[in-house]
Amino acid sequence: MDAKRTVLWLAAVAIVVGAAVALTSCGGGGGGNTTSAGAAPKIALLLPESKTARYETQDKPLFEKKVKELAPDAEILYSNANQDATQQQSQADAALTNGANVLVLDPVDSASAASIVTKAAAQKVPVISYDRLILNAPVDYYVSFDNEQVGKLQGQALLDKLTGMGSAGKTIVMINGAPTDNNAKLFKAGAHSILDGKVKIGVEYDTPDWSPDKAQTEMDQAITKLGKSGFVGVYCANDGTAGGAIAAMKGAGIDPKTRPTTGQDAELAGIQRVLLGEQYMTVYKAIKLEAAAAAELAVALAKGEAVPSTLQLSNVNNGSKDVPSVLLTPVAVTKDNIKSTVVADGFWTVPQILSTPELQAAGKAAGLQ
Ligand code: BGC
Repeated sequence: MDAKRTVLWLAAVAIVVGAAVALTSCGGGGGGNTTSAGAAPKIALLLPESKTARYETQDKPLFEKKVKELAPDAEILYSNANQDATQQQSQADAALTNGANVLVLDPVDSASAASIVTKAAAQKVPVISYDRLILNAPVDYYVSFDNEQVGKLQGQALLDKLTGMGSAGKTIVMINGAPTDNNAKLFKAGAHSILDGKVKIGVEYDTPDWSPDKAQTEMDQAITKLGKSGFVGVYCANDGTAGGAIAAMKGAGIDPKTRPTTGQDAELAGIQRVLLGEQYMTVYKAIKLEAAAAAELAVALAKGEAVPSTLQLSNVNNGSKDVPSVLLTPVAVTKDNIKSTVVADGFWTVPQILSTPELQAAGKAAGLQ
């Protein structure tokens, strides 16, 4: 080999070695953003709470199923923060230490979760903001629903129902979600955009942690303040809080059928209350599509592959950047369309919904069986 060829050969070796080093330093244990060739991708799923049924019964299993379909060898590092932002911070730290290649993060606190994103970004680990938008941080993707539209659907359904009852213009109670959740702000804004000027808001609460028990206490206070006949309906931001408010009404001897109440999530207990007429409506969000979109993004990012072109992306600004986002469409559900929405979509089966003789009778009357 002459001198010139030796230099070229050494340069080639240097490139190959350099590439190998680069790949290794990107891989698993070091917390880099993509797996090294052949290594199984590690995907962290960080959910915010377990008092609301959807996370453990829908989001977690649906996300895991889709990831396994796309990458059978993938490892999922799962944690649930039980409404505790500090705990979520430690869970994210643990995921990074354990070599997560991507974080799918549904933040307890949309503002303080920014520090998780900054930490992940420093280790080149991308973050998908799942369902709730993380604010003021370099988030890579956002997957959710049109959340202002959720609030509009709730507000419109309540207003239409009250109008039909001859109660437009009268007093309602508003029970919103957690002030730390960006979604709760959007639901609230959407609902106010429909209800303001059309009904009187007798009393309004933001419910810390979205806790159903706290919603029940808030409703107790509202009943004390307004009197048992001092309100015609209740805006509740989700099914969990609606469950609390309805329990408070029952406890005070008020028939919830006479006070249309809103909800969200189409959780099983919510759908059953809607069927029985105790809760007027809920909002169905196809969590299967949400979890699948997040899984597709997560697998692509973990493997360093291109994002699937089938995903429809729009931009949502989170105060720091325009975040490429998948935004799905929510649907209002009342007794009349349970069959054509949640049942047709396989979200709940008829036998799951009709689990008692009372529900079976109501199901028959509503044409569910
Ligand atoms: C979600 C709702 C959920 C609520 C409470 C919101 O961010 O979008 O589906 O009911 O949090 O966990």
